[in-house]
Amino acid sequence: MRNLLKVGLRRFVQAQSRYAIGDRHAVVIAVAAQKGGVGKTTTSVNLAAGLARYHNKRVLLVDLDPQGHVATALKCQIHPGGQPLSAILEDDKNGTELLDAVTTTSIPGLDVPPYDDRLTATEDLLGTRIGKEMILKDKIRITRSHYDVILLDCPPHLGNLTINGLCAADQVLIPCDPSPLALKGVEALIHSVATIAARLNPEIDLMGVLLTRVDGRNTNLNTSIVSQIEESYGEGLLPVRIGINSSLAKAQSEGRDIFAFDQKCRGASQYRALADHVVELLG
Ligand SMILES: Nc1ncnc2c1ncn2[C@@H]1O[C@H](COP(=O)(O)OP(=O)(O)O)[C@@H](O)[C@H]1O
Ligand SMILES: [Mg+2]
Repeated sequence: MRNLLKVGLRRFVQAQSRYAIGDRHAVVIAVAAQKGGVGKTTTSVNLAAGLARYHNKRVLLVDLDPQGHVATALKCQIHPGGQPLSAILEDDKNGTELLDAVTTTSIPGLDVPPYDDRLTATEDLLGTRIGKEMILKDKIRITRSHYDVILLDCPPHLGNLTINGLCAADQVLIPCDPSPLALKGVEALIHSVATIAARLNPEIDLMGVLLTRVDGRNTNLNTSIVSQIEESYGEGLLPVRIGINSSLAKAQSEGRDIFAFDQKCRGASQYRALADHVVELLG
């Protein structure tokens, strides 16, 4: 066997990455739900900020949703720089890594790719690529050795970007608000994750279901849906719950994480508790 691909021709196929391998090994957490408005972005942003601020983690937060809400939610804190994520995902030849898309923020330890208005087109383009589900996983081979945690804020449907997120992920965190539709979305997502585990990513596991937007006043609805969720998911339901807190929405529209916006509000203490719990789970 001459093995030409391995010895010589490889240089025609893919350029070597320009990055050295780091000394970390990031856990990749996909924050996903097959429904919009359940708190995926709020959770991704504030969990990422909590892990960086209170646990000294090196965190990369990647918005896979073309709506670009992560960049909006952190608009006052993101420093200029980084190539668009779409350029990295679409590149088959130049050995780019997700690291090329990274820029820093005013939160020490938290990096993000910049706002990218081309991701919708990328979603379709990925469908034409060989190994289309594994492109993101390929792009974080070296990147993950520079971070402790990579958080992926996934779009609300099971398109190419979400599937890339789930194929790159070690863990899936599923935000769910106490509504019947959100509950259906959790079931659908768990089914999809099981299929991905069987066919594409045997390493993937469920971190758990996170109850979000729990309304302290609407106790009847809450109790009935929460008990349904407890019955269905048992220990899969995380012990931390996020209540409705207008500061979370205000922080998001002001473009800052909840800890910079109002460290003392209930949303801040609940997301800090989530960060503590995630650190415990990751050991
Ligand atoms: N716990 C909460 N309390 C109050 N508002 C919230 C809470 N979580 C999210 N929101 C608001 O609800 C809307 C949808 O949340 P978001 O995180 O963007 O959902 P998703 O990413 O799942 O679409 C946003 O306006 C957000 O600010
Ligand atoms: Mg979102």
